[in-house]
Amino acid sequence: MTKNVKVILITGASSGIGYDAAGTLARLGHRVYAAARRVEQMEPLKSDGVIPMRMDVTDEAEAEGCVRTILEREGRLDVLINNAGYGYFGAVETVPLDEARRQMEVNVFGLARLCRLVLPAMREQGSGRIVNISSVAGKSVLYFGGWYHVSKYSVEALSDALRMEVRPFGVDVVLIEPGGIRTGWGLIAADHLAESSKGTPYEKEGLREAETLRKAYSIRLLSKPSIVTRAIVRAVGARRPRTRYRIGFGSDTLVFFHSLLPDRWWDALMRQAGKLHF
Ligand SMILES: NC(=O)c1ccc[n+]([C@@H]2O[C@H](COP(=O)([O-])OP(=O)(O)OC[C@H]3O[C@@H](n4cnc5c(N)ncnc54)[C@H](OP(=O)(O)O)[C@@H]3O)[C@@H](O)[C@H]2O)c1
Repeated sequence: MTKNVKVILITGASSGIGYDAAGTLARLGHRVYAAARRVEQMEPLKSDGVIPMRMDVTDEAEAEGCVRTILEREGRLDVLINNAGYGYFGAVETVPLDEARRQMEVNVFGLARLCRLVLPAMREQGSGRIVNISSVAGKSVLYFGGWYHVSKYSVEALSDALRMEVRPFGVDVVLIEPGGIRTGWGLIAADHLAESSKGTPYEKEGLREAETLRKAYSIRLLSKPSIVTRAIVRAVGARRPRTRYRIGFGSDTLVFFHSLLPDRWWDALMRQAGKLHF
C-alpha cells in the first residue's frame, strides 16, 4: 500500500454526508470501512470498493469489534471520521431526558468511544488523524435546538481538548463545521420537534418551527453533501490540515452574526426565522 493510500473508518455512512464521503474517498483510492446501523443502505457503495460494517456507535462491543476487524485485516488505521449523528430538536422543558441522553450517547459519547478505540493503534503507528463532523450548531444556537446544540458544542470542546493531548503522538484532530446540508437530517430533527411539542405549551411554536425546518431542508438552496465531502478530503489528505473547516449554506453568515449581535437580538432573530416562508 502506498503512503498516500489511507485506511479509513467513517461512521454514519448509510446516508447523507457519510455516504457521499465514503464513496468519494474510496474512488480516490483509499481503503474505506463504512459503518452504520442500516448496513443494507451501504450495499451500493461496494462497487466503489467501500467495505460496509454494521455498527451502532452506542454499542461498545460492536464498535470495538469493527475497529479490531480493521486492524486485523489492514494492520493499521490511519483516519477515523466521526460522522454519525442526528438532531433531537424540541423545547428543553419537553424533550424527555432519556431522549436527551440518547442524543448525547450518539453524537458525543459515540464519537468519544471511537476515538478511545482507535488511539492506541494510532499511537503505536506514530501517526493518525481524527476528523470530527461537528456543525455551525456547535457555534450558535437555533430556536428549539437545545440538546442538539449541547451535543455539537460538546464535540467542539472535546475535539479542541483532544487535539492538544494527542499531538505528541503524531495524531491530529480536525473539526468540520457544516452549515445547512441537504440530507435526511432536517426531516429527522423536524419529526422529533413535532413529537416533543405536541400537547405541550410549546405546541404552536414547535409545530410551526418543525414545518419551517421541513421546508428549509427540501429546497435546493441548501448545500449538497459533496461540499462537506470536499472539506473531508482536504482534512484527510493535507500534510498539515486546518484545525477547522467551516463550509456549506449559511455557515459563515450564521457564525458572523452570532459573534456580532447582542444575545437578545440573536434570540429575536432566531425566533423570527421560524416564521420564514420558504
Ligand atoms: N445536514 C446538515 O444540515 C448538517 C449540518 C451540520 C452538521 N451535520 C452533521 O453531519 C453528520 C451527518 O448527518 P447527515 O446530514 O448526513 O444526516 P443523515 O443523512 O441523517 O445521516 C446520519 C447518519 O448517522 C447515522 N447514525 C445515526 N445514529 C447512529 C447510531 N446510533 N450509530 C451509528 N450511526 C448512526 C445514520 O446511520 P444509521 O441510521 O443507518 O445508523 C446515518 O448514516 C451528523 O453528525 C450531523 O449532525 C449535518
